[in-house]
Amino acid sequence: MIRCIKCGMEYSLDEIIYTCRECGSILEVIIEPEVSKDVFEGRKETMWKYKEFMPVDESKIVTLQEGGTPLIKCDNIGKDLGVKLYVKFEGANPTGSFKDRGMSVGITKALELGVKSVGCASTGNTSASLAAYAARANLDCLVLLPQGKVALGKLAQAMFHGARVLSVKGNFDEALEAVTRLALMGEVYLLNSVNPFRLEGQKSIGFEIVDELGWRSPDRIILPVGNAGNISAIWKGISEFYQAGFIDERPMMVGIQAEGASPIVKAFKKGEMEIEVVENPETVATAIRIGAPVSYRKALRAIYESEGLAESVSDEEILEAQKLLARREGIGVEPASAASIAGLIRLLDEGEIDRGEEIVCIATGHLLKDPDTAIRACEEPVEVEADISSLLEVMGGKTSSM
Ligand code: F0G
Repeated sequence: MIRCIKCGMEYSLDEIIYTCRECGSILEVIIEPEVSKDVFEGRKETMWKYKEFMPVDESKIVTLQEGGTPLIKCDNIGKDLGVKLYVKFEGANPTGSFKDRGMSVGITKALELGVKSVGCASTGNTSASLAAYAARANLDCLVLLPQGKVALGKLAQAMFHGARVLSVKGNFDEALEAVTRLALMGEVYLLNSVNPFRLEGQKSIGFEIVDELGWRSPDRIILPVGNAGNISAIWKGISEFYQAGFIDERPMMVGIQAEGASPIVKAFKKGEMEIEVVENPETVATAIRIGAPVSYRKALRAIYESEGLAESVSDEEILEAQKLLARREGIGVEPASAASIAGLIRLLDEGEIDRGEEIVCIATGHLLKDPDTAIRACEEPVEVEADISSLLEVMGGKTSSM
């Protein structure tokens, strides 16, 4: 069933509904499969390894083999920080971000419902992923993007996979409001994370972390928060495995926002359950440039229930952490993803996180998503003639330091 997270009103899984008709709140899918974790053994490492926990018809699955992403032990940074650090590299998904998990379930659901057109508003990654999965499922795809604020790689993907791309004069929050209105008029099936089926796919990040750690939780999971779907999804996944008896403890959930777009952090610091919308959100991490996160209530619930934290970081801290991951661990992520590492560093400095903890940071999207920001952070390559003396001159006359 689908259930309202606020008033508990219940709806059928076959209804096209995004918010509660009684109270207007967002909804969640309730699923309680009775299986042993032994059923997962020997299955291919994709998110469909956990198909019993996915509320869609198995025969209709639209997949590009998403999930099964690497959980990378990061000893170089971990030792410097004094923590046991893992990075879950979601950039390894088919379109380069965690959104593919949600779209695989969301598009499968769209086929089940028999819709012909799907749509979303996006800071970039959602549109890239939706465009690809819609193409695979032969569905029309409409995406609304905030003008001038979508990283180049993401824009290229949405356009190249054949979506109808509209550049909206406004920010993400305004684009989302607009596409939601189109969805309520029946023009498109909405595949933003307000659609509870999206989170059903994304919860598999939580499944994979505890499975890979040998059926136990890390102390904390830290991730960037924008529209607040992903932190809610991961907590839901972890909680489902906890309720099923697959793990004995759950991790603390830590949400990181950019300083210029941090309504959830502000609510958390006041101990509140409601947010104040940020009217003009701004950050270099365009993926999380969001002032009115739709899933804020689910996210705050995850943070409070898990005795977790929310913190904000500056653009400088984000860009520094992005470089650190690339240069100390070889992991290339886009700026928003680096917010998780920047947040970890700040929370260690503040004494909110203890040295010695076991931490999983979610690297949500690939470096190549935003080549412009990456290139701006580096020195220009030196131009040189292709002869040895010119090369040696540029290299400072070195011949034997190898
Ligand atoms: N990291 C990346 C790379 C993202 O693209 C997003 C969200 C987030 C983190 C935040 O996740 O919204 O679930 O809290 N991107 C959306 C989009 C908004 O349109 O691609 P969230």
